[in-house]
Amino acid sequence: MQTTKIPQLHVEIKGSGTPVLLVHGFPFTSRMWQPQLSGLAQAGQILAPDLPGFGASPAAEPPFGVDQLAQACLAALDAQGVSSPAVIGGLSMGGYIALAIARLFPERVRGLMLLSTRAGADSDEAKANRDKAIATAQEQGPAPAGEGMFPKLLAPGNYEAQPETATELKTIMAGATTAGVVMALTAMRDRLDSTPLLRQISAPTLVVHGEEDQVIPKSEAEAMAAAIPGSQLHLIAQAGHVPNLEQPEEFNRIVEGFLGGLS
Ligand code: MLT
Repeated sequence: MQTTKIPQLHVEIKGSGTPVLLVHGFPFTSRMWQPQLSGLAQAGQILAPDLPGFGASPAAEPPFGVDQLAQACLAALDAQGVSSPAVIGGLSMGGYIALAIARLFPERVRGLMLLSTRAGADSDEAKANRDKAIATAQEQGPAPAGEGMFPKLLAPGNYEAQPETATELKTIMAGATTAGVVMALTAMRDRLDSTPLLRQISAPTLVVHGEEDQVIPKSEAEAMAAAIPGSQLHLIAQAGHVPNLEQPEEFNRIVEGFLGGLS
């Protein structure tokens, strides 16, 4: 692994007990975990970092890939005095980082939560789309990345049923910077295929996915859960790519059940 300067990440923290790291997706910030910071604080110590160049965290010096993001998240736990194994959770891009932590630092993983994510690497077509999105961000700033994703983030019916969730997503995405977007797109484009890792995961694992995810199909979650020994799979109805925001009560109930089963 290359040696890179790891920026100190801003972390939102609530609660006490079992440490639970929640890593945000793209192009979000720790603000996406507000319903979990408030709703799960009785179930554990929730630690939600802003990845470099997002929210209140400084940008990282490139190159900064998924493995360095994994290191940065663990350094953020260290900085909060969390050195015992934690529950490592991540949504979408955050899930790619959680899988990198499971591969590189399995001793830090008390449990794994793979949320709205996939194990596979980018296809050639997906890599080409990342390149285009990187060029667009370099020319026009961070906004087009969020605008491009916005129509796919919620379950189709939730744009009308939950206008406040749609508005909140726009506010969350306003926390992205050009440096963060370029770093994240590059890291996702170059990430490894984690599929071979799945069978070797021995930590208790929870897989959660929205039934109507338009960004990553639920078949990806089903395949991950089938490959990870002893994992639990929960599909959430009337939820798309951000089930923690679209159906926060059910999402929190599932996570609380998982955390309760660990102790
Ligand atoms: C995310 O939601 O974090 C991203 O859409 C994941 C991706 O683009 O692969």
